[in-house]
Parts: sequence; structure tokens; C-alpha cells
Amino acid sequence: MATVLAIETSCDETAVAIVKNRHILSSVVSSQIAIHQKYGGVVPEVASRQHVEIVNHAIAQCFTESGLSWSEIDGIAGTCTPGLVGALLVGLTAAKTLAIVHEKPFIGVHHLEGHIYASYLSDPDLEPPFLCLLVSGGHTSLIYVKACGQYEVLGQTRDDAAGEAFDKVARLLKLGYPGGPMIDQLAAQGNPKAFPLPEGQISLPEGGFHPYDSSFSGLKTAVLRLTQKLEATGEPLPIADLAASFQATVVRALTKRAIACARNYGLDTIAVGGGVAANRGLREQLKIAAEPYQIKVLFPPMKFCTDNAAMIGCAASEHLDRGHASELSIVAQSRLPLSEVMSLYRV
Ligand code: KG4
Ligand code: ZN
Repeated sequence: MATVLAIETSCDETAVAIVKNRHILSSVVSSQIAIHQKYGGVVPEVASRQHVEIVNHAIAQCFTESGLSWSEIDGIAGTCTPGLVGALLVGLTAAKTLAIVHEKPFIGVHHLEGHIYASYLSDPDLEPPFLCLLVSGGHTSLIYVKACGQYEVLGQTRDDAAGEAFDKVARLLKLGYPGGPMIDQLAAQGNPKAFPLPEGQISLPEGGFHPYDSSFSGLKTAVLRLTQKLEATGEPLPIADLAASFQATVVRALTKRAIACARNYGLDTIAVGGGVAANRGLREQLKIAAEPYQIKVLFPPMKFCTDNAAMIGCAASEHLDRGHASELSIVAQSRLPLSEVMSLYRV
């Protein structure tokens, strides 16, 4: 089984890991949250510069932690899509350069395939097929995982990602960035039924609604209007009730779609990934909703839900074992449909 050095720099975490199959030999994650906090969100140019500062130190630290030498590395992986192009370029160029210098195969990895592989790190016995609910700051997708490199996106958001909605609502409630953890905490003290809020639905041309696609931008606007109305009364804002009502609406939308999807496709496991998988409301409600249908719900530990390079290495290790490696000419791309993952490899 292939031992892979993986580099992930698609957004605001500089991460490097050495992974053998589903086993982590070392993993370093350097978060830039504190740097971007003062801007209220990720500033792409600042992120790229920070990756440049950190990446070499993180690679060195991974070798120290694992005790391995270059001769024990079978391949070098880098996240090449989707993400901020300037940020992706730093890790991708580092990975390609190391592959040339050390004469190893290079494996470009799709970031979302990495998030899917995070579930294998926490549950090494997990095997496809299963449904992956990927909910992060940039993505909200329901993915039918069929095999390595074979994915079908069954549902996704048509506008804001779930984490983005948490961040935007937190900003309008003046709770700071990132907003998810703050709203999660406040929601625990509030009444989720205090304010009925609209769960975004996607109308179909033939009538009815899309069963798996979601929309969160209308919900964010509804919270904005409600907040403005409440502020006009001159009373202090019922922040906890607002947070609880907003969170319950997002959780209901995600839970309903994930369960419908798993049932309609006959999948008995839902693996959740991405930063929003930390949300206590989602953890609780999805488990409750899945129970009557004997659907198993897997929530990886937080260190695997948020961005890391171990998940990228885990995906790369399996690709390499199957003889999939990338040309050095592949480029950093802001987007690539998950269904086109295999275009990254010459098989
Ligand atoms: O996966 P991630 O670390 O980064 C990417 O977007 O790729 O996810 C970050 C997102 C942020 O939007 C953050 O607000 C959200 O995950 N998040 C949460 C919680 N913890 C982090 N959202 C809801 N509840 C939480 N406890
Ligand atoms: Zn991510």
C-alpha cells in the first residue's frame, strides 16, 4: 500500500500529512483563522502569502513526526481543485517540485474527494457505496460514493453553502468569524421555535420541489429582515432565540434531504464531512431522523471534518494503489465537477 506525502492549501489552512492507505503517519495543520478574523472572512492574497511562509516548515515537521525518509515515500499529492487558485498553486507547485526532485509519482487530488476520504480515516472499515453529506464553508453536497474516483452529486446548494450561511448570519448578529461555532453555542440556550423561518426550496419547472437541492440565501435575508424589525422595537435582540431558530431551519433542511436521498437510493450509511459536521444540532437531529430507517450516520472527529492534508493523502494513496497518477501539466482550477475526478489521472 502506497505511502504518500500530501499537501493541502486550497483555502485558509496550510496542511501537510504523510499517510499510508487509511493510516496517518504524521499530520500538520496550520490554521490562518486568526489572520483572516480581522477582515471578517478569508482574503485570498493573504491566504496565498501565508501558505508560502508555512508550507516548507510543515513538510519538514511531517518528516520529523513520522520518522520517515524520502526513500519511504511512494508518491506526492497536492490538492489541485476546487479552491482559491492562488492558494492552491502554492501547495500544488510544492508537490510537483518535490515529485520531480525525488523522482516520485505526482497525484493531483480533488478537495471534495479528500473530504469523502476523511470518513475512511475515522472509520477504516467503511466501504462504498454510501452517501456523503458534505457541509462546509464552501460546499453543501449530497454525494453518492460508488467507488474510488466514482461519484454522483445528487443534491447541492443553489446559492450559499451551509457554513457560509452560518458565517453570514453570525456577521449580521455581530458575533464575529467564523460564525458556525458561535451560533451553535448560542443556539443551545435559545428556543428553536421562537421565530418561524423559511427553509429554502428549489421549484421544479414541472411543479413541486427538488428533493435534494437546497438554498440558504433566502433564509439569510429572512434573518436580516427579522433582525431589522426586532431592532426597531428598541429592545435588546433575542440573540439566542434567533441563533436557535436559524440553526434549526438549516438542520431541518439538511436532515430532510439527506434522509430522503439515502432512502431513495437504498444507501444504509450517511457519512458527514466538512466544518458544519461539528454542529451539535445537526449531529443530534440527523441521528434521530436516521434511526427509524436503520440508516447509520457517521460523524468523523472534528480534526478530520475541517480541512487537513491527511484526507488528501488517504485519497491519493488509494489512487496510487490503483495505478492512478497525474501529469505534471495539470493546473490549479477554481472548480471541477466531482464527477470528472478521473480526468486528473492517466490510468
Ligand atoms: O470545512 P471547513 O473547515 O472549511 C471549508 O469551508 O472548506 O468549514 C468551515 C465552515 C465555516 O463556515 C464555519 O462557520 C463552519 O464550518 N462551522 C460550523 C461549526 N463549526 C464550524 N457551522 C456550524 N456549527 C458549528 N459548530
Ligand atoms: Zn474543505
